[in-house]
Amino acid sequence: MSEEILKTIQERLSSRIPYDPNRQVPKEDLKKILEAARWTPTAHNMQNFDIIVVDDKTALDKIGSIKSKISEEFLRENYVQLSFSREELLKKKTGILGSMFPPEWVDPAKISEAVKKAAPMPLTQSIRGSPTLLIVIYDSRKRAPASHGDVLGFISLGCLMENMWLMAQSLGISMQILSAFSAPPVEAEIKKQLSIPDFMKIAYTCRMGYPTTASKYFRVRRDVEDLVHHNKYGNKGI
Ligand SMILES: Cc1cc2nc3c(=O)[nH]c(=O)nc-3n(C[C@H](O)[C@H](O)[C@H](O)COP(=O)(O)O)c2cc1C
Repeated sequence: MSEEILKTIQERLSSRIPYDPNRQVPKEDLKKILEAARWTPTAHNMQNFDIIVVDDKTALDKIGSIKSKISEEFLRENYVQLSFSREELLKKKTGILGSMFPPEWVDPAKISEAVKKAAPMPLTQSIRGSPTLLIVIYDSRKRAPASHGDVLGFISLGCLMENMWLMAQSLGISMQILSAFSAPPVEAEIKKQLSIPDFMKIAYTCRMGYPTTASKYFRVRRDVEDLVHHNKYGNKGI
């Protein structure tokens, strides 16, 4: 059992490739993912989320037509997390490969110009054929008790993400998180289209489906000996 859980955790990954638009996520599987969502641990058991399931083709197309523009803030902070070879990534053990982005996005000298020149991109390029989106929203008027910036509320939304992701993984359903849906101008458009009340905010969107090609890519993690401190800070390992 513990081996199975660990395997599901290790095999879960961000599947950023196109999904088959004609292969729906079966209702039974979707219900299991939502059941996993329901049992998410949340601060004070506030269950501080609602989930909008979008699987109607017309609604997906309408969301897909919303345009988003890349920001300089994102590109500059993204750059800090990049490695430019497998060797560098293997050594760093954190971050992602620069080759996942267009060359002008990963050269600090070209970023400002790239942002100026970048045409707004329709969200359809992020949705990439996904037949089902799960849009996670939360009530921005509330917070977990005495939680500054509602950090505990946001941690809870992270628990929700992982619960759904692991269930999807165990069902053979691929998933990718789309943060771009919560960027203010995009969020405003989606809220209008889906009649989401003003006080609710979009935390993130899960794009789900079945990839049209294999979705393995080079992933790294720090070693336990590097991230664990035993009994006191600095006493690395276990
Ligand atoms: C809060 C959060 C936001 C994320 N936003 C995005 C995103 O907008 N686009 C994306 O492709 N991946 C996104 N990711 C996925 C991470 O990039 C990914 O989990 C990380 O690189 C590790 O790769 P893995 O998921 O394949 O293990 C997000 C993950 C988290 C937890």
